[in-house]
Amino acid sequence: MRKPIIAGNWKMYKTLEEATQFAEEVKGLAPDPEKMDAVICSPAPYLAQLVQVLDGYPVAVGAQNMHYEDEGAFTGEVSPVQLKDLSVQYVIIGHSERREYFNETDEAVNKKAKAALKYELTPIICVGETLEEREAGNTEKKVSTQVKAALEGLNDSQVKQSVIAYEPIWAIGTGKTATAEDANEVCGAIRKTVAELYSDETAQAVRIQYGGSVKPENIDELLSMEHIDGALVGGASLKSDSFAKLLEAG
Ligand code: G3P
Repeated sequence: MRKPIIAGNWKMYKTLEEATQFAEEVKGLAPDPEKMDAVICSPAPYLAQLVQVLDGYPVAVGAQNMHYEDEGAFTGEVSPVQLKDLSVQYVIIGHSERREYFNETDEAVNKKAKAALKYELTPIICVGETLEEREAGNTEKKVSTQVKAALEGLNDSQVKQSVIAYEPIWAIGTGKTATAEDANEVCGAIRKTVAELYSDETAQAVRIQYGGSVKPENIDELLSMEHIDGALVGGASLKSDSFAKLLEAG
């Protein structure tokens, strides 16, 4: 039985004061950690503060990106060592906004996934198709190519520890959600890809989230699907009351 995981991706929103207030508001509303994992992925400058406010509460803190090197002359970047140093537990890797606006390649995604796991950070590896790819019938091909590239060189146990987020690009921030059936079909195809690359056991263990206009109104239906083990949520994770509602789901 896979434990659902709900992760909020704040993207480049919030001030320090707003981030702190949010954490104060949700810490008491956190889910039973036996039943669900909850994560907030904040902008890098607030990670330390969130870790401090949420210390002892079952809401983990995640970063939205990192470099794959331990250290070096990479101005403006944050390393896995630095995230670990702050007690950050998760890191989003290969979000479509990073792939599109910051030229993040499949190869870089793979290096980042490896670096995260090396430092026991759980990578949330994002994959997803554009509208054109969907309309051309290439969704599964695109997503399975991204999954294969991201997992290249990882062993079974590393894959089991990872989270894969299926985020159709056309559903991000648009209010258009994939139907639960469509999302489930692609998450099932991702699981099949993992089974082909590793084993059924590994495929059954890896958690696959759906992301793209998830909100309190559609989370229950999404989580009821066989292959959807949680959600990666943008807009609806920005307000503490709607994030808290998402944590009540399932
Ligand atoms: O990473 C989450 C995200 O890309 C989805 O955003 O605003 O559609 O929930 P949103």
